Amino acid sequence: MGTSFPNSKTLSLFSLQVLFTASFSSPSTAFANETLSQCLISHSQASHPIISAIYTPANSSYSTVLQSYIRNLRFNSSDTPKPTLILTALHESHVQAAIVCARKLSVQMKIRSGGHDFEGISYVSISSPFFILDMINFRSVDVDIETETAWVQVGAILGEVYYGIAAKSKVHGFPAGVCPMVGIGGHLSGGGYGNMMRKYGLSVDNIVDACMINVKGKILDRESMGEDLFCAIRGGGGASFGVILAYKINLVHVPEMVTVFRIQRTREQNATAVVYQWEQVAHKLHEDLFIRLVMDVVAGKNTGEKRLLSMISDGFPELGLRSSDCIEMSWVESTLYWMNFPIGTPVDALLSRAPKGLMHLKRKSDYVRQIISKDKLELLWKRMIDLERPILTFNPYGGKMGKIPTTETPFPHRAGNLWKVQYATNWHEEGHEAAQHNIELTRKLYNYMTPFVSKNPRAAFLNYRDLDLGVNHNGDESYEEAKVYGVRYFKGNFNRLVKIKTKVDPGNFFKNERVFRFFPGKKKVKCPNK
Ligand SMILES: Cc1cc2nc3c(=O)[nH]c(=O)nc-3n(C[C@H](O)[C@H](O)[C@H](O)COP(=O)(O)OP(=O)(O)OC[C@H]3O[C@@H](n4cnc5c(N)ncnc54)[C@H](O)[C@@H]3O)c2cc1C
Ligand SMILES: *[C@@H]1O[C@H](CO)[C@@H](O)[C@H](O)[C@H]1NC(C)=O
Ligand SMILES: *[C@@H]1O[C@H](CO)[C@@H](O)[C@H](O)[C@H]1NC(C)=O
Ligand SMILES: *[C@@H]1O[C@H](CO)[C@@H](O)[C@H](O)[C@H]1NC(C)=O
Ligand SMILES: *[C@@H]1O[C@H](CO)[C@@H](O)[C@H](O)[C@H]1NC(C)=O
Repeated sequence: MGTSFPNSKTLSLFSLQVLFTASFSSPSTAFANETLSQCLISHSQASHPIISAIYTPANSSYSTVLQSYIRNLRFNSSDTPKPTLILTALHESHVQAAIVCARKLSVQMKIRSGGHDFEGISYVSISSPFFILDMINFRSVDVDIETETAWVQVGAILGEVYYGIAAKSKVHGFPAGVCPMVGIGGHLSGGGYGNMMRKYGLSVDNIVDACMINVKGKILDRESMGEDLFCAIRGGGGASFGVILAYKINLVHVPEMVTVFRIQRTREQNATAVVYQWEQVAHKLHEDLFIRLVMDVVAGKNTGEKRLLSMISDGFPELGLRSSDCIEMSWVESTLYWMNFPIGTPVDALLSRAPKGLMHLKRKSDYVRQIISKDKLELLWKRMIDLERPILTFNPYGGKMGKIPTTETPFPHRAGNLWKVQYATNWHEEGHEAAQHNIELTRKLYNYMTPFVSKNPRAAFLNYRDLDLGVNHNGDESYEEAKVYGVRYFKGNFNRLVKIKTKVDPGNFFKNERVFRFFPGKKKVKCPNK
């Protein structure tokens, strides 16, 4: 059933091949790192020395600096292309120097904040040479309860933001992702959803100002960048438009106590009926409720047979919830609960940047707009049990998500969506064969889901970056190539982004060359919206 998916096979194979066979000519690398270091030094201000922010491969800390923000072990292998230099910028003048020198020497620049990109594009490039502008030292979180806002720098992690808000108020929070180690830079420029989405929308719906550096090295705020560019960096992906230094966010109101629960049901315990009921109600419930559904294949404890385990978190009585299942806690404690920390874990666990249990990862995404019947659910369980590894997570929409116009931000997946699907495969095995196998399992489940998900385009979530959806070769066809995945991520907003990109970065300096290229260059950009 529904295993056809035009174009994806060739494109995805191509992207893998490119990644794994890329080779570097060392002379040009050596040349580039030396001149790049020299250029950076000569462009830095005496008051803010840059030398201590430069890591070349000759530096004994180079590998540690590189690896400490690789969050997908798929890109921690010896043949993953390595940067010729890492600049851990300490001051905005270092970012300016990076842009000036990268342009002057034609070295590809990758911008990394939290390093959680699922395809590693913040620290891997097929361009030779390339370097990393690492924003990890820009990590202040400045909360102002009086104005109910906060300035958060891009290298801060979500946990630091949650912690920083809670340290000043028990009744304020911020709607963003579930994993506390995700970086602000990628998360807020690409969307940012979490369990307050039905109440307050996405992170991008709660940004009120930003500070960034453009291709000319100029520092801009909302007023000086203008509303178009300010819109683009709230969901259009930061890396195509400039280097973002910080976002100003609006805090939202949370009750002093929230209620959480987690229920597990196996297939034998009527999981199908529970899921079917979830399908009817989760997107219609009061927007104060968010019930995420996770479907996983687990081995039966006693019999060893595989079972489908269904796990439901966060409050809804009709699903067989007993009051003993419910736990009251503060909002900030609930952020830990969602990450499976034991109850009572001190809140400063949110500040930890030491990753636990890193694995090799593949993610894909979909949007569901119609209920899946019980019979089809049963078939889906069978398919999942065959494939064994990929996990499905359903995040319900509705509430505020259905009320924000699709044109408000680049993120277009609003009214009409019942829930978002995340396909997740995680593995420990090293090597290309294991990677190929696990990626293939993920694609198989994705193909199986074709009849049940959005079509024309089959939509996808930018923050769940998925190179299967297309890569760019930066040739004459780059606009057409970008459109293939661009309309999936942005739908009708894609052309508006192309227009903004063409205006603010006509030379296409800011690019994720494996992913994005809103090509302005010589070829005339077709903008039906103009
Ligand atoms: C464990 C895990 C859990 C996750 N949970 C959620 C979740 O609950 N909700 C959700 O919405 N998403 C989630 N994500 C996805 C996550 O939001 C994205 O991967 C996000 O882009 C990560 O941001 P980062 O700064 O850590 O990533 P990075 O890898 O540093 O950057 C991601 C992209 O943004 C660009 N970028 C980064 N910083 C800047 C900057 N300062 N200026 C311009 N461009 C920049 C990079 O070049 C790259 O293209 C999760 C990811 C992981 C790995
Ligand atoms: C430049 O890189 C090469 C190899 O990547 C390395 O051998 C050399 O020491 C580097 N030069 C500097 C100045 O760090
Ligand atoms: C590595 O770089 C850091 C930061 O610039 C510097 O303090 C250190 O001395 C360097 N170490 C080596 C061995 O070059
Ligand atoms: C990443 O690779 C390096 C070099 O092989 C290794 O030392 C390190 O342990 C790896 N990181 C993780 C988290 O496995
Ligand atoms: C499953 O549903 C049936 C029929 O609705 C019910 O009789 C039974 O008690 C349920 N089983 C469980 C474990 O909930």
